Amino acid sequence: MQRLAPALRADNVNLDLISLIKTVLAATKEISFRVGQGALSGVMGSTLDENIQGEVQKELDVVANQLLKDILLESGFVKAISSEEEDTSVAGNQNGKYIVSFDPLDGSSNIEINSLIGTIFSIMEAPEGMDAADPDMFKQQGTKQVCAGYVLYGPATILAMTTGKGTHFYTLDKTHGSYMLTEKNVQISEDTSEFAVNMSNQRFWQQPMQNYIGDLVKGSDGPRERNFNMRWIAAMVGDVHRVLTRGGFFTYPADNKSPEKPYKLRLMYEANPMSFLVEQAGGLSVTSEGRIMEIEPTDIHQRVEVILGSKNEVEKCLSYYK
Ligand code: F6P
Ligand code: MN
Repeated sequence: MQRLAPALRADNVNLDLISLIKTVLAATKEISFRVGQGALSGVMGSTLDENIQGEVQKELDVVANQLLKDILLESGFVKAISSEEEDTSVAGNQNGKYIVSFDPLDGSSNIEINSLIGTIFSIMEAPEGMDAADPDMFKQQGTKQVCAGYVLYGPATILAMTTGKGTHFYTLDKTHGSYMLTEKNVQISEDTSEFAVNMSNQRFWQQPMQNYIGDLVKGSDGPRERNFNMRWIAAMVGDVHRVLTRGGFFTYPADNKSPEKPYKLRLMYEANPMSFLVEQAGGLSVTSEGRIMEIEPTDIHQRVEVILGSKNEVEKCLSYYK
């Protein structure tokens, strides 16, 4: 089994980027340890604060954010970070080569039920000539990512990562503290009979999505003439991990539940990194209007529609919008 750094060197990843990735992962090892401690960690409750998006912050969210932020800003490799838990971007080293966006703990409502949660990250090159404090540095298309990944804190701690040369899985060896390459070039099957969506929002979706999911649910009695199964972990990181592992269709579609917030998932630190991982594994990741990684960002906390997974099923879904 190969360790992380040699595996990255074999993919010709440059040494600065390898050092930055190791820095991100150092924080995830500590988060993994705290998550594994459960109530013993003393950080399982809720804070009295809300993040910029009006969500109650869990103590573990705040701890995970602080761990990542401190280690990245101290590293010298990073010009700025942006996080789900920070109102705006935070400046690091003006000469840092990279910028990093992250969701420190995705799926935080799963913390209290001891279910899947994870850290999602996305790395881009820092544009030259811009001030480290300027959040506009982050307004780059997802196609500009040089690395994306997530760490899933489940029964095992698993890293899924891409630097543009396939998507690979690594498993944290908790005895020695190293991520070991456990699956190279993950491939998402082109077909699937499994879908993941929060069905409680069905009546709020646009008509094409209602029709598409409606036909899946009709199973062998409907136009698809076969049965589909539904899975919903309620943490994007867990649902995408299932898609990467055994294929599947995942969506958080547009809805009109609250008209001022038609989408749920965030572009910079959820949709873009997951899209990079999914595309590198042979899947598709789109909105009903086009490829997610080609969206021109307007805001670091902007939200987007997400439809991703097995190629043929994503294309089938899009055909309902034509
Ligand atoms: O980060 C947002 C998130 O927690 C995702 O991980 C997940 O897919 C989604 O929200 C679940 O939201 P809801 O329970 O409102 O459908
Ligand atoms: Mn999240």
